[in-house]
Amino acid sequence: EKGGWSSFMAKEIAEDPEAVANTLRGRLVDGLPSLGELGSLDDDALRGIDRVQIVACGTAAYSALVGKYAMEAWARIPVEVDLAHEYRYRDPIVDERTLVISISQSGETMDTKMAVQHAIAQGARTLSICNTQGSTIARASEAVLYTHAGPEVAVASTKAFLAQVVALLLTGLHLGRVRGAMADDAIREVTEALEELPEQLRTLLADQDEIRELAQWMSDTRSVLFLGRHVGYPVALEGALKLKELSYIHAEGFAAGELKHGPIALIEPGQVVFVVVPSPRHQQGLHAKVVSNIQEIRARGARVIAVAEAGDSAVLPYANQVLRIPLTLPLLEPVLSVVPLHVFALELATAKGLDVDQPRNLAKSVTVE
Ligand code: M6R
Repeated sequence: EKGGWSSFMAKEIAEDPEAVANTLRGRLVDGLPSLGELGSLDDDALRGIDRVQIVACGTAAYSALVGKYAMEAWARIPVEVDLAHEYRYRDPIVDERTLVISISQSGETMDTKMAVQHAIAQGARTLSICNTQGSTIARASEAVLYTHAGPEVAVASTKAFLAQVVALLLTGLHLGRVRGAMADDAIREVTEALEELPEQLRTLLADQDEIRELAQWMSDTRSVLFLGRHVGYPVALEGALKLKELSYIHAEGFAAGELKHGPIALIEPGQVVFVVVPSPRHQQGLHAKVVSNIQEIRARGARVIAVAEAGDSAVLPYANQVLRIPLTLPLLEPVLSVVPLHVFALELATAKGLDVDQPRNLAKSVTVE
């Protein structure tokens, strides 16, 4: 039931804080991840793996990309991400020391299921991150971590994406701990930040008027670009996918560093570009690099909407508009920075008078190859 909401999508975005809280619930003990539910994928099994491969489609594959950055940083294990429908056709190198993580909201996506079966046939250990209890992919895998985001009805995935990212972050911390790559204090610093997310999401969602006005102003726009870097890159891809699905306008996400290798040719006066700005506290100076990308595209007439951390004043002279997100650790930022992009897609489709819950040509779960 939609309750008082104009659409399931609006309702499901409003449920983001609860979805994240539910994914975390019962999985942190004394600030450390506790994933006894993984059964035979116990600590010994996880110490025995030497690579991780994550398979998924669509939005779930973007959550996988965020997971890769976090898992490699925390567990110091190589992580590959594949679109599930590409995975088995490229004859991946997979054996009993490989952990294949599949991600699927529905747990019924045929492409993802086939990838899991391929992995099992090669002897891999398998973990699925699913939202739907008892689903096919969950049952096919050796272990399952349910996201517990609650039912998602709208075709466009929103709260499930946030929950998938959080489940992957938990898995990354768990692997980091079990494999001795991360000290307990460092883990606790992350879990404290994870536990703050639901409240931060509530704050973020409380004020969406600016995005609504922006979407209304943009209802005739024909193309929107999204730029991001590091974990902001998958967020840019997700922002673009959601806009395509719901508004039927051309939208593309790029890694900001790739701009000068081609996409900058697309920039002409009036082109709207969303830029997901990494936190200034990010190591390796990524913030300055993205700010300089903003300068480059502004100089060519782009209209820049920055999604930036509260208090980040470096973007102010260059962005036309800044959408603020609360402060968190850099690797956790996607959980917050994706929200304005979800809301923007919802509001733009609404401004165009489209059916946001049932976009044309799409099904909630794709059960054919
Ligand atoms: O149920 P799944 O998570 O396996 O679905 C994967 C994709 O089909 C899904 O995320 C799709 O891209 C959504 N419509 C995105 O909003």
